[in-house]
Amino acid sequence: MPAIVLIGAQWGDEGKGKITDFLAEKAQVVVRYQGGNNAGHTIVLGTEVYKLHLTPSGIFYPDKLCVIANGVVLDPAILLAELDNLRARGVTTENLRISANAHVIMPYHRLLDELEENARGAGKIGTTGRGIGPAYRDKIGRSGIRVQDLLETDALAARVEENLAEKNALLTKIYGRPPLRAEEIIAEYSAYGARLAPYAADTSLLINERLARGERVLFEGAQGIMLDLDHGTYPFVTSSNPVAGGACTGAGVGPMCVSAVLGVLKAYTTRVGAGPFPTELLDEKGEQLRQRGGEFGTTTGRARRCGWFDAVVARYAARVSGLSHLALMKLDIMTGIGPLKICTGYRLPNGTVLTEFPLSARVLSQAAPVYEEMPGWDEDVTGVREFADLPPAARAYVLRLEELAGVPAALIAVGPEREQTLVRGKIFE
Ligand code: GDP
Ligand code: IMO
Ligand code: MG
Repeated sequence: MPAIVLIGAQWGDEGKGKITDFLAEKAQVVVRYQGGNNAGHTIVLGTEVYKLHLTPSGIFYPDKLCVIANGVVLDPAILLAELDNLRARGVTTENLRISANAHVIMPYHRLLDELEENARGAGKIGTTGRGIGPAYRDKIGRSGIRVQDLLETDALAARVEENLAEKNALLTKIYGRPPLRAEEIIAEYSAYGARLAPYAADTSLLINERLARGERVLFEGAQGIMLDLDHGTYPFVTSSNPVAGGACTGAGVGPMCVSAVLGVLKAYTTRVGAGPFPTELLDEKGEQLRQRGGEFGTTTGRARRCGWFDAVVARYAARVSGLSHLALMKLDIMTGIGPLKICTGYRLPNGTVLTEFPLSARVLSQAAPVYEEMPGWDEDVTGVREFADLPPAARAYVLRLEELAGVPAALIAVGPEREQTLVRGKIFE
């Protein structure tokens, strides 16, 4: 049962959308299984650029089943607008199914996300403000509203009223805001329910039926390992599990169906939002990477923080997600940037060099990156289609990164388009 889990192996925005679209050709099913519209996945098809927040990046193939699974938190207005936009651009969305168990982002989630961020002051996480954390909190707290609740107005009304009793107390008493009105929310969300009804399904059943038929399933992760709630740089993380294991809980499949775990990494590192980032460059080099790489958020437009490739992070990602392959993205951005630095460890004030990512936030805050340097190259690589045709220094850089990560780089990207992808190894069986 060949399923591939494709995940971000840094702090998000590694190029997951591009690689999902690239691999979707060889799959029959593409599944988003965690996160929500905090994600922004870019797909470039000729002159058309698509930025998807909730729709799986397999949607451009009309014959693939695309699934938004139970682990996703879904903002119905955003999804419906995204689907309208796709259809207006000639993309069919009839092949989409949404789990009836997916939790719904409500207006109070978005509001609380913003109010809580403001209240954090200097300790801001830098969330995307989409209501992700508050929606997952209600899911865990067992007061969440699911897609299936939107389909029955009576059930929805009861759930909204229960929730507003608590949320309005928070809004008025803690944050000094006016209360929200149940009738308006019920009317708005039951209208979304009517529009989502044709897509709602038992998606775990659909996916497992396809797996049983021997079809190939591609699980498209959102965010990245270092933003994982359990394994990332807590509390500067998102509220879901971007690690590979998240695909099983987020989609209702067993781990035995997964035959490969593909970690997507940039040839350098970026992070958007606050939190530790050991190899961050606050100088000209960082600015050069940002400008050349177009490192501005797909979802919020914020400038992304940029830095050198961190092999400690790559090894950590390989461990916590059992990566079997890497997809190394944006190699073209490194042209003319050399000499290139790679972080191989973190030095602590007492001289100790760590080669494993420290769990202690205090230790991490004292860690200074230890770099090794490699020569760069100046040749344009965007037209290269075979690994052997890359400049020798670029090949050496890739080989060193995979050696340090301990995982082979099966795919290498030299530009945003589908065909700007070099294949070095087989991923699907
Ligand atoms: P995702 O969230 O992981 O899907 O990544 P984003 O779409 O947020 O950000 C990746 C950006 O890099 C997008 O603008 C892609 O079009 C672009 N991109 C992906 N791969 C490459 C590459 O190999 N080279 C270049 N120059 N751009 C790339
Ligand atoms: P894709 O799928 C990069 C970051 C936010 C913030 C933290 C928590 O495009 O890689 P949240 O709104 O989730 O509560 O914010 O997580 N973040 C992302 N950073 N790419 C993403 O998604 C992200 N989704 C959330 O910037 O630091
Ligand atoms: Mg993104």
